[in-house]
Amino acid sequence: MRPTIVHAMSVSAGPQTTRRALRADLLDFVGDPGLGAPDPTAVRHRPDHWLLIDDGRVVDALPGAQPPGDDWAREEHRGRLLLPGLIDTHVHSVQLDVIASYGAELLDWLERYTFPAERRHGDAEHAQAQAEAFVDALLAHGSTAAVVFPSVHATSVDALFGAARRRGMRLIAGKVLMDRHAPDDLRDDVARARSDSETLIARWHGVDRLAYAMTPRFAATSTPGQLAMAGALLQRHAGLYMQTHVAENRAEVAWIAKLFPEARSYLDVYHRHGLLNERAVLAHGIWLDDADRQVLADTGAQIAHSPSSNLFLGSGLFDWQAMADAGAEVSLASDVGGGTSLSMIRTMADAYRVQALRGVRLSAFKALHAATRGAAQALQLDHEVGSLEPGRIADVTVWDWAVGNVATPRDTLARDLHERLFAWMMLGDERNLVTTLVAGRTQYRRRSGDSGASETQHGFAAAA
Ligand code: GUN
Ligand code: ZN
Repeated sequence: MRPTIVHAMSVSAGPQTTRRALRADLLDFVGDPGLGAPDPTAVRHRPDHWLLIDDGRVVDALPGAQPPGDDWAREEHRGRLLLPGLIDTHVHSVQLDVIASYGAELLDWLERYTFPAERRHGDAEHAQAQAEAFVDALLAHGSTAAVVFPSVHATSVDALFGAARRRGMRLIAGKVLMDRHAPDDLRDDVARARSDSETLIARWHGVDRLAYAMTPRFAATSTPGQLAMAGALLQRHAGLYMQTHVAENRAEVAWIAKLFPEARSYLDVYHRHGLLNERAVLAHGIWLDDADRQVLADTGAQIAHSPSSNLFLGSGLFDWQAMADAGAEVSLASDVGGGTSLSMIRTMADAYRVQALRGVRLSAFKALHAATRGAAQALQLDHEVGSLEPGRIADVTVWDWAVGNVATPRDTLARDLHERLFAWMMLGDERNLVTTLVAGRTQYRRRSGDSGASETQHGFAAAA
């Protein structure tokens, strides 16, 4: 089915959507459900309520039997699930072309598939088309905010930020830094990387809902000089994020130990270059030890747990319990193209499977919290996104509780909220998504009467 793209626009341009009210089962979190048995006290479940959105923000909720007045545009989604927009804390916008590439572990996969695909983003036209397709795909999977790796090319950063801005999205990204151990045409150097980063920070950081992240790909592809440069820019510019990969794969960890013999651990390479703080997002973190986890807790840096990718690339089983015991933050991430789906529902289901293999039961409450309020808190953005609290920007998703002949009867048998949400998480995917709102505007709507067909909409025509 061909997606329908309507004109794009900037969230800052033109009038905001008028007052809207959506009727559905509202679900968000007021606390952290924690690992272990499902804790309903952390959950706010308001079955059959109206969510009221004014000027792009959540303003109130009313029981279904008390609809708001005629000055509200009312939208019926009775019997559906309404959630805050999902947050994907680690995904590569330039890797859609390599998703589902066969038969390799991390380092081989990078060389055989990933670097050749990223090379093509030096072409501005290709970068633009792929960036537009990528953000539309995020929205069509229910992700309204993301922390994103483009490529080393400044053009790929401009394309990505531009596409996100036109849709009004909360997006964190930055030029990938790689000055060694990468193909010639994907390598920068310290001076060029610094000046490109400065230019891009000035152009994008703090514009609408965009924020810049210093983005050393991983310790293997940056010299100590480049890591130090990244640390210096983090010091110089308030509110910058940092994103990278850490301790994903055993061969990778061994390589880093050789490249940085003076460091206590892989994570310590980043720590000693001043890259860890409460705005640092590190993907994977499978092969960490307790001292590393304590550093994460002390600095406020988070691990973007990427279970789909970890299973697909055979990287290992993330120890979420040890992170929780250390008091370190964990969010959830698709890590496409190492991950095989942009769906954060599938990501949650994979997280459950990974924890099951470790003997830990991940509740649907904890998984969904990690993809909404938990991620927002870890990113220092909970004043803006992650819940349905009045005052939050209205990034909202509406889902069918169940789709199809297997999930639907299973849904009707669920005896309590957790059982129902768990079945939704394990059996659902992007086909359950009905509509996605960003800052109160419709940015994706499934074709009516249909489950699974995609229709992406953004701009004035779709805003009502
Ligand atoms: N480590 C360094 N680069 C990458 C990447 O693109 N994907 C994953 N999964 N790990 C990485
Ligand atoms: Zn990654």
